[in-house]
Amino acid sequence: MLTDNHGRKINYLRLAVTDRCNLRCFYCMPEDGLNWLSRSALMTYEEMLQSCSLLVKMGIEKIRITGGEPFVRKDIMKFLTSLSELQGLKELTLTTNGVLTAPHVAELKRIGVSSVNLSLDTLDAGRFFSITKRDEFSNVMATFDELLKQGIDVKINAVVMDGKNTQDIIPLIELTKKLPVSVRFIEEMPFNGDDHVYTGLKWDYIRILEEIKGAFADIKKLDDPLYSTSYNYQVPGYMGSIGIIAAYSRTFCGSCNRIRITPEGELKTCLYDNGVMNIKDQLRQGISEDNLKLMLLNTFNSRAKNGWEAERQRAKSQGVHESMATIGG
Ligand code: 5AD
Ligand code: SF4
Repeated sequence: MLTDNHGRKINYLRLAVTDRCNLRCFYCMPEDGLNWLSRSALMTYEEMLQSCSLLVKMGIEKIRITGGEPFVRKDIMKFLTSLSELQGLKELTLTTNGVLTAPHVAELKRIGVSSVNLSLDTLDAGRFFSITKRDEFSNVMATFDELLKQGIDVKINAVVMDGKNTQDIIPLIELTKKLPVSVRFIEEMPFNGDDHVYTGLKWDYIRILEEIKGAFADIKKLDDPLYSTSYNYQVPGYMGSIGIIAAYSRTFCGSCNRIRITPEGELKTCLYDNGVMNIKDQLRQGISEDNLKLMLLNTFNSRAKNGWEAERQRAKSQGVHESMATIGG
């Protein structure tokens, strides 16, 4: 078992396979995109597979593929298939915006992907356009339908933005009435690629919960699974459930079991740190597996206690404002 210097188990890797995306979500990146990484700056699939294979041997049990948008990277299904064959990996999942995903859902099911997080902040096509700057709502909904049809567990991720989609909170919850989905409301974080100045959080988890209770006074608290980042609830009699993720308030750091690898191969042991080593560079310098393992163990043994400490340890000039697409959600 892998543990860190604070006694927390590490068994979950989030791997971002690209920084590119076919949407321009307000809270994630500017409308004209980011300064995309060149292909040579990205980890190759071979390098990713090699890293995942070692990490699984060391104790990682669950891998989530993120981005950017995973499906804009060429041959992603081939890569996912290889990952799904890693001995010792118990769970392979992914987060997608659903624009290009629908045609791949049956294949995802076949290779054993049992749950998918779908980013969807609104059920209104007009607001979808104003948040993402792209007219792709119907494709995202097609992915949603296909995931349900194939029996893949769906979690909808909705970032709650003041003045943009708070009117969607209740309609999104209504989706859980007749569908076995979990709708999770996420506090907006400062990771927007410098598109706008982050003016502080208006909709924190407490306010989101108050809004929900205003419409559903009798919602019941569910037990939160071990390592859960969400506070979970259910409207009595509804099929699905509701989650609230205090991504900015950082209430869940004490049980954090996750590490991240960015598209450039930067290892992050906290979402709010600035990268603790570059795995791709080490691999390209020909590091042996044993030495890479030692380096990784070293980083796990000097992990920040929580997201506040990780943020403080960053150089002042490197405040928290990169895009989520370069971090991997
Ligand atoms: N704040 C909160 N969540 C974000 N995401 C992206 N950028 C932000 C942000 N600034 C989330 C989206 C998406 C996932 C990939 O990351 O909900 O589902
Ligand atoms: Fe793309 Fe996801 Fe960022 Fe939206 S949040 S722009 S879908 S990477």
